[in-house]
Amino acid sequence: MTLQEKVETKLGFLIVLSIIVILWGGLAQIVPLFFQKSTTEPVAGLKPYTALQLAGRDIYIREGCVGCHSQMIRPFRAETERYGHYSVAGEFVYDRPFLWGSKRTGPDLHRVGERYSDDWHRVHLINPRDVVPESIMPSYPWLEENQLDNSSIQDKMRALMIVGTPYTEKDIKEAPAKLEGVTELDALITYLQSLGTKIKVRR
Ligand code: HEC
Repeated sequence: MTLQEKVETKLGFLIVLSIIVILWGGLAQIVPLFFQKSTTEPVAGLKPYTALQLAGRDIYIREGCVGCHSQMIRPFRAETERYGHYSVAGEFVYDRPFLWGSKRTGPDLHRVGERYSDDWHRVHLINPRDVVPESIMPSYPWLEENQLDNSSIQDKMRALMIVGTPYTEKDIKEAPAKLEGVTELDALITYLQSLGTKIKVRR
């Protein structure tokens, strides 16, 4: 019996060998990404989210915006013509967790930062139909009434520091005051306006 026949006729052996091959292939693809500059170095000018942007990002997560909006522009003409420069790994270095999403009921938001005014976002989030009559996006009127909760921002920033976000003690000390008296709506808009602005949009 040749080795080939042995492998092909002993099912258990074949399964074990297959698993080893898949594991090895996975490791060979994934492990280098942790050391490659293009995936671990922030793009020029990228800064960690400020306390306010981070709080806004949490509202984005809480409200489930990621269920309808991706933040990942693929390198295809149809996408770059519509949304701007395709997304690159170095733009997401401080994104924990990633909000790339996989469902586009609405448009991609990766380069929505600075595209509209704060006022446009304010009107749009309170009632999308006021600016886009055919919109099927839900209204989020409570965001305007809710004040930000600043009780856990320092813990969140410390947790991010542990995984490598370069916050300073000063950033953390000043964080609760920065959130004082700000509505959830304004924090969310501050976050949206920061999205994808480090690589210039071609439009
Ligand atoms: C049920 C799906 C759905 C959800 C959930 C949703 N959206 Fe939308 N969103 C849409 C659709 C559809 C549009 C396109 C029509 C419009 O502009 O209102 C849109 C448009 C937008 C736009 C304008 C984008 C552009 O380039 O014109 C922004 C900004 C936006 N949404 C932010 C949000 C935020 C922030 C949340 C969470 C608070 C959210 N959306 C939740 C469906 C959704």
